[in-house]
Amino acid sequence: MVPEEIRRRVEELRREIHYHNYRYYVLNDPVISDAEYDALMRELRGLEEKYPELITPDSPTQRVGAPPAEEFARVRHPAPILSLDNAFGPDEARAWLERISKLLPPGTRLDFVVEPKIDGLSVVLHYRDGVFTLGATRGDGEVGEDITANLRTLRQLPLRIPVHPDGPTPPPYLVVRGEAFMTVHDFERFNRRQAERGAKTFANPRNAAAGSLRQLDPNVTAQRPLSLLCYQVVAYEGEPAPPSTQWGVLSYLRALGFPVTEHAAHFDEFEEAVAYCEEWAQKRDTLPYEADGMVIKINDLRVAADLGIVGRAPRGAIAYKFPAREVTTRLLEIRVNVGRTGVLTPYAVLEPVQIGGVTVSKATLHNFDYIAEKDIRVGDRVIVKRAGDVIPQIVGPIVEARTGAEQPYRPPDRCPACGEPVVRPPDEVAVYCVNAACPAQLVRRIAYFASRGAMDIETLGEKTAKLLVDHGLVEDVGDLYYLKKEDLLQLEGFAEKKAENLLAGIDASKERPFSRVLTGLGIRYVGGIVAEILARHFGSVDALAAATVEDLQAVEGIGPRIAEAVVDWFARPRHRQIIDKLRRAGVRLAEEAPAEAVPQPLAGLSFVITGTLSRPREEIAEIIERYGGRVTSSVSRKTDYLIVGENPGGTKYRRAQELGVPMIDEARLWEMIGRGTEGTEE
Ligand code: IVH
Repeated sequence: MVPEEIRRRVEELRREIHYHNYRYYVLNDPVISDAEYDALMRELRGLEEKYPELITPDSPTQRVGAPPAEEFARVRHPAPILSLDNAFGPDEARAWLERISKLLPPGTRLDFVVEPKIDGLSVVLHYRDGVFTLGATRGDGEVGEDITANLRTLRQLPLRIPVHPDGPTPPPYLVVRGEAFMTVHDFERFNRRQAERGAKTFANPRNAAAGSLRQLDPNVTAQRPLSLLCYQVVAYEGEPAPPSTQWGVLSYLRALGFPVTEHAAHFDEFEEAVAYCEEWAQKRDTLPYEADGMVIKINDLRVAADLGIVGRAPRGAIAYKFPAREVTTRLLEIRVNVGRTGVLTPYAVLEPVQIGGVTVSKATLHNFDYIAEKDIRVGDRVIVKRAGDVIPQIVGPIVEARTGAEQPYRPPDRCPACGEPVVRPPDEVAVYCVNAACPAQLVRRIAYFASRGAMDIETLGEKTAKLLVDHGLVEDVGDLYYLKKEDLLQLEGFAEKKAENLLAGIDASKERPFSRVLTGLGIRYVGGIVAEILARHFGSVDALAAATVEDLQAVEGIGPRIAEAVVDWFARPRHRQIIDKLRRAGVRLAEEAPAEAVPQPLAGLSFVITGTLSRPREEIAEIIERYGGRVTSSVSRKTDYLIVGENPGGTKYRRAQELGVPMIDEARLWEMIGRGTEGTEE
């Protein structure tokens, strides 16, 4: 027999703990310290250990500790768990309003509630006399899976209502729908930890939330940072009747102790609701979770219900979708690009897919390590992301969609263009083809030589460069100046006019200043800005070719990497031959005008760099400083710009967002300096 005062104390402890949980996890506003909370939990655990017959499933001690399940039981939902129709943009939203208005009695005035459409997992939560008894996934909308033990581990989920001493009394039977998800912050931290431990990482917060909720062992789910927001009463029995408006439902759920979004808004005018959706489309990244749109709901639930259902979607609400940034498609093939410097870069050939209005059929895979780390296989269904102006990227494979036919990828050990063995320097991620005669590299080098930031030969693009190389007409950029019209006429698509234009373009390039020639040579780390520094300091190609690493490093703005790359380049006889050819052709190999001071367009500006840029960070910093700017390592209120490269780090990015620090890409930096082409360097 359990003494009565023990029973009472256990009840009291549970009530208090539920309340403090709610203050802490739902309201983010705790009223006791962690130590005091721990003391209450300890006392309750002690009593439950001594009197196990007192343990009930709704005790706060029971969030964790349930044994792993063999499989999930099936649960029939008390009412269909519906999905939504989509509207892309204001016009489609207006078309929805027009459609439903026709079905309503003339003169019906509508008002609306708009909520974020969280990209997580729909969950259905059953309460009997205020006690959480059952939780299910959406499943097919009729039948879901019983994930009660997993949901119990979510701290924001009320195990017992009321959680609040003066909260409303719950009805005898209540079923609530909500969305379980991971915040972006929690997801990034969680994924980092997983990676550190060598455990599975997830492609996005949604997959992480889904994977966590579908764990057979609730103790694993308990370790995952899951959140919850609720928005619908699915079933209700008892008095008084539940609220008859969506706005009322949100308040009611909030009062009962459920977590409810703070970003919902009520509108009497439809256009205002649309404007609110558009506003959030712009600032979606400031939401703590990923949202794929907003939901516009008719506020009057009776009117909404009377409108009925089409297929699986109620007519009374519409998803106002944000432009997609992530889609899935099939990875058909992995191909390898050979760059000007010989770097081998893998990219994915995709089944064409639309992302935010653009058809994407290729995406970068960054490097071979990335493919291995993410275990990306040929034939995989993959998640493709295109954020802002960034080149499409493969986020990762959808492992669950594998059929077994997918082929793991093996990086090539020979250059796909010339067949020579490739080299992987010990502390670099990059894989190189070091064959100086590799045709793929030569094509890229020639196209680069002719590009806008270098010799600016408009009539010579990559396609023409390839023709010239394939026909053996050029073996290096020096040969361009000895091309004859007869040679060009044998090329595919070349008639008189085209041949003459190409020759004229090449001839005109002899007038480009020395610094542009130097840029065009494609010496590693020597882009437009560094070339200008070198040209100005040394004055001629002969002086530069004679310089030692020390001489070079003594120049402001030239670090050890650049110095070594320059010395290394001129040390090669092949390269000396190129210089000779250029000299004989009359290309400028010395500075014309007297040196002038470097302009300081970045004077007084402070920059922070995140992600990978086209060249090492120290070098970018040197350049910024040379033009008067400053580079610091972390974002603060004093930061003027965050330069965002590939795979930017989460912390700097978020901090910049919080503080409203403008973000720019590398190309924009070069524009600010007045060099629009630097970024084209590989
Ligand atoms: S309302 C009848 N509201 O979006 C009610 N759905 O296809 C229909 N979702 O699977 C859903 N946030 O999981 C609604 N505030 C919100 C939502 C929301 C996320 C999800 C839900 C559903 C999908 C709609």
